Amino acid sequence: MKILVTGGAGYIGSHMVRTLGESGHDVVVYDNLSTGFRESVLYGRLVKADLADMTAMDELFSHEKFDAVAHFAAHIVVDESVREPVKYYRNNFSNALNLVEACLRHGVNTFLFSSTAAVYGMPVAVPVSEEAPLVPINPYGWSKRMVEQVLQDVSHASGLRYVSLRYFNVAGADAETRLGQKYKDATHLITVSLRTALGLRKELNIFGTDYDTPDGTCVRDYIHVDDLINAHILALDYLSKGKPSRVFNCGYGHGYSVREVVEKVKQVTEIDFAVQEAGRREGDPSVIVADSDRIKRELGWMPKYDDLDYIIRTAWAWEQKLHGTL
Ligand code: UFG
Repeated sequence: MKILVTGGAGYIGSHMVRTLGESGHDVVVYDNLSTGFRESVLYGRLVKADLADMTAMDELFSHEKFDAVAHFAAHIVVDESVREPVKYYRNNFSNALNLVEACLRHGVNTFLFSSTAAVYGMPVAVPVSEEAPLVPINPYGWSKRMVEQVLQDVSHASGLRYVSLRYFNVAGADAETRLGQKYKDATHLITVSLRTALGLRKELNIFGTDYDTPDGTCVRDYIHVDDLINAHILALDYLSKGKPSRVFNCGYGHGYSVREVVEKVKQVTEIDFAVQEAGRREGDPSVIVADSDRIKRELGWMPKYDDLDYIIRTAWAWEQKLHGTL
């Protein structure tokens, strides 16, 4: 297949490009390199352009015939979205709308969308299923929720079919240490903890210790990036068989608290870095864990790396390799 991967120079998108390339697919990456890196694109051709640029997109779509689009490009930092909502609605919503419009105009009918567990907001029941109410509690979640709505309506009105994958907390890195989270200002817990272990940060802040959870810190469902990519490959296969549009959770179905993750990072790295208890971070739900029955049942997804130790080890190997380049 010939596949357009937006955000293919970023953390998760670059793992997708690697897997597609290794399987012999023809890949074109569309990325403005705002948070992505040219050297993370291991296969295919990189088009450095912005999704706000309809002319660039039209030009590309009129010269290349894509069998599918996988849309990863987005801003992803929850608390930044609270401070700068327009940035999130512009990039995550409005630019996604441009891309969907380009697909419709050029007859691309297969669409994979990187959605998020943040669409659920503060779930009333955990694990949270795809049928749970969608009540985001931050602009990041809303921006993704709004794209899901567009896809649902467009899919109803046209021949476009999509799979929306709702990612839980993606972490870990390529087993061969070729790819990983590279962004200098990364804010995610495992990355920040590892960079603190390396001495790149003075201390790790635990954001909130008064949540209604067993140890007072937030609980998340951490999924290894390669299991997530496998879910995308299965979703692509599902759509190529002509199956209907569908939404799937991507998580393992159990969670770890912030304190548990930090302890595991100390154990893996064998470094006892400084940890500071701090106030809550804006926009954080207390617990979010996936009900992953649907993706297992309907796509035959079988996670291979449901192991926090492995997730942190692969991320640690990557951070050590990056060390000195950040
Ligand atoms: N945390 C800290 N200290 C840090 C960084 C994070 O205590 O330095 C805490 C956060 O407050 C949160 C937990 O660790 O409780 C996880 O935070 P991350 O920033 O790693 O990830 P988020 O849960 O905020 O967000 C991620 C994705 C979203 C997705 C969400 C679903 O970025 O796309 O998981 O759970 F929606």
